[in-house]
Amino acid sequence: MTRPMQETMDMARRAVTHFVNRTTDQAASTYALDVSAYTDPARYRHEVEKIFREKPLALVLSIEIAEPNSYRATEVCGTPVIVTRDGDGVAHAFLNACRHRGAPVCANGRGQARQFSCPYHAWVYDTKGALISMYGGKTFGEVDVATLGLRELPCVEKAGLVWVCLTPGKTFDIDDWLGDFAYELETLDLANWHLHTQREIEGPGWKVCWDGYLEAYHHNTLHAETVGKYTVGNLMLHDTYGPHQRLVFGRKSLLQIARKPEDDWGDPSEHIRLIHSVFPNTSISGVVGDHCLVSQVFPGPTPETTITRQSIMTARVPETDAEKAATEAFSQMTLKAVRDEDYNMGFQIQKTLSSKANEAFVFGRNEPALQHYHTQVARFAAD
Ligand code: FES
Ligand SMILES: [Fe+2]
Repeated sequence: MTRPMQETMDMARRAVTHFVNRTTDQAASTYALDVSAYTDPARYRHEVEKIFREKPLALVLSIEIAEPNSYRATEVCGTPVIVTRDGDGVAHAFLNACRHRGAPVCANGRGQARQFSCPYHAWVYDTKGALISMYGGKTFGEVDVATLGLRELPCVEKAGLVWVCLTPGKTFDIDDWLGDFAYELETLDLANWHLHTQREIEGPGWKVCWDGYLEAYHHNTLHAETVGKYTVGNLMLHDTYGPHQRLVFGRKSLLQIARKPEDDWGDPSEHIRLIHSVFPNTSISGVVGDHCLVSQVFPGPTPETTITRQSIMTARVPETDAEKAATEAFSQMTLKAVRDEDYNMGFQIQKTLSSKANEAFVFGRNEPALQHYHTQVARFAAD
């Protein structure tokens, strides 16, 4: 689904107005958050349970399991999960645990497979999760094979993403969960991008980490040598869709178009940068032209640990040397900006959390997306 040019033009207009006036979208007031929200282990366990285990997560990109009979196995919040596309093209999610005695039936990673043979005693499952054979089955004794398929998790594919809830038996309505954000995600056309590479990065704790994905206030300082070269610092358009958010940052070319009539702006999408922030942990960032970065932050076993999966995508398969070089440059820039700048800062912040320097953090009126995020975390934790 292509976004009508008029909508992109409206965003560019809003960005230019802020640029000229040196303003940004703002929250109504500043917002204080007790530092224990970042550090308290009991609160952490409760929030991870309520939010990451009970709500739908955008767990896998459709293009990670592009072909029939393909899979993506991964660990999420300590739970091994396998997401498959079956022979009919339908996505499923299962706990990656054999129904005999619990061994993972497949190593983490992705690939093509018609079936998964458990490495312990060779029970075999198909991509629909059915138990299709048991080694030495005649000797095993009577069992009801039909009830011994892989434990299925609620799963639905929408907008180029496979949405999964980690709690078996729980149901969710993806249209309810996304509301008008579904349209926003559809405009990204994620199912038709090319997956260039994926990597996993160890990061600081969930909220320290995630805060950095929700504002451009730090771009000109922390990222002066990377994304800050392209982005106007401290300028953001902020729109919310239930718990989800769309952030629009301004590119440096706002300086040029601010002096020109609108008819001479060219393609308005070249002057802004869209971030779609899917609650609670997925950021989809069209950073530079034909490149896209999807970041998924998964809470680790303690409040100080996360794993981030970065997926680097291109609009088309890079073919010429120049296209390949541009893709690799983009990939390296995202790695440097996130690992060496954001997370390096996050690890340092983490050391100060228990120092009593701050009892609460204050989010500025110019940090509305952080305010919204933490408000939503509190809302779901209280459910
Ligand atoms: S644990 Fe999988 S076959 Fe025994
Ligand atoms: Fe950053």
